[in-house]
Amino acid sequence: MTNVEFMPARLFLSSGDLVADRRFEFARDLQLKGDLVAAADLLAQATELAPGFASAWFTLGKVREQLGERDAAIAAFRRARDADPDDRHGASLRLMLLGAEKLAAMPTAYVRALFDQYAPKFESALVDDLGYRGPALLFKAVLAVRHAVRKPAFFKRAIDLGCGTGLAAAAFAKEVDHFIGFDLSARMIEKARLSGLYAELEVTDMLEGLRGRPDASADLILAADAMVYVADLVGVLKEARRVLVPGGLFAFTVETHDGDGVMIGEGLRYAHGTPCVRASIEASGFKLSQLEMLSARNEDNTPVPGLVVVAAKM
Ligand SMILES: C[S@@+](CC[C@H](N)C(=O)[O-])C[C@H]1O[C@@H](n2cnc3c(N)ncnc32)[C@H](O)[C@@H]1O
Repeated sequence: MTNVEFMPARLFLSSGDLVADRRFEFARDLQLKGDLVAAADLLAQATELAPGFASAWFTLGKVREQLGERDAAIAAFRRARDADPDDRHGASLRLMLLGAEKLAAMPTAYVRALFDQYAPKFESALVDDLGYRGPALLFKAVLAVRHAVRKPAFFKRAIDLGCGTGLAAAAFAKEVDHFIGFDLSARMIEKARLSGLYAELEVTDMLEGLRGRPDASADLILAADAMVYVADLVGVLKEARRVLVPGGLFAFTVETHDGDGVMIGEGLRYAHGTPCVRASIEASGFKLSQLEMLSARNEDNTPVPGLVVVAAKM
């Protein structure tokens, strides 16, 4: 499959004005047919009729981008975010990509809306279309790290950050007694519940979920394809370290790039440079047990550059 965008059908928030909503629908048809100038015109009309129409502003931003009108795109994305301050469309991510705003955290409401919409077809899209292999890579890495220190790869309590539908718990099921899953998306959690793999599940931001857990209460923490939605790794790493028992492991995947620091890619996920991952691990007091260049998924049939990381609490 080519050109797979890891995106569900576009989010639509009605303006509450039937005429404006209809103009939006026509504009979307025109955009899909490639008549971008006419689409922009209709979207501008829709926003005149309903100035708080976030979906129309956001789509107008995308059409302006397609037309190469950067300044107008930036203005439209800003209006989209003003109209929906929770930013369910992720206008602030588009502003970061356009270089109009500094890199910042992903809007929670955007991640939640994205994965709530995505949940019904998540596994087939990710595993079948994008060759997703994050959980298997984490499993192999954790086994290797345990093997190297001659300890059994068996864990009483494990926490799965951004657990999604439960693919990581499935990979580790035989090695873990009690699995706890955290995810921002209630629909993904519903799917995880159906898997029967988790003893506890919470709809929560991963950092908040960790904050709610006692010191030294987990033997293993996993984050498979979830830290790609977290700009600042250190906050999560520090809390994960507090929650782990001494000798406990935190295994996670990230997407990466050749340079240092954090970038946001076209797929609207963060990519962390290797030096930045190493520095984050050190800053949070972990010992790096393993860091390997391995890709967890493909895009356009090409492996997306990635890292598989295992950090140990000493
Ligand atoms: C690409 S999916 C991966 C799901 C699962 N770990 C797997 O390997 O199949 C990313 C998941 O992370 C969740 N997520 C992203 N940011 C999060 C955050 N800050 N806190 C909790 N969950 C988050 C999303 O809702 C989504 O379910």
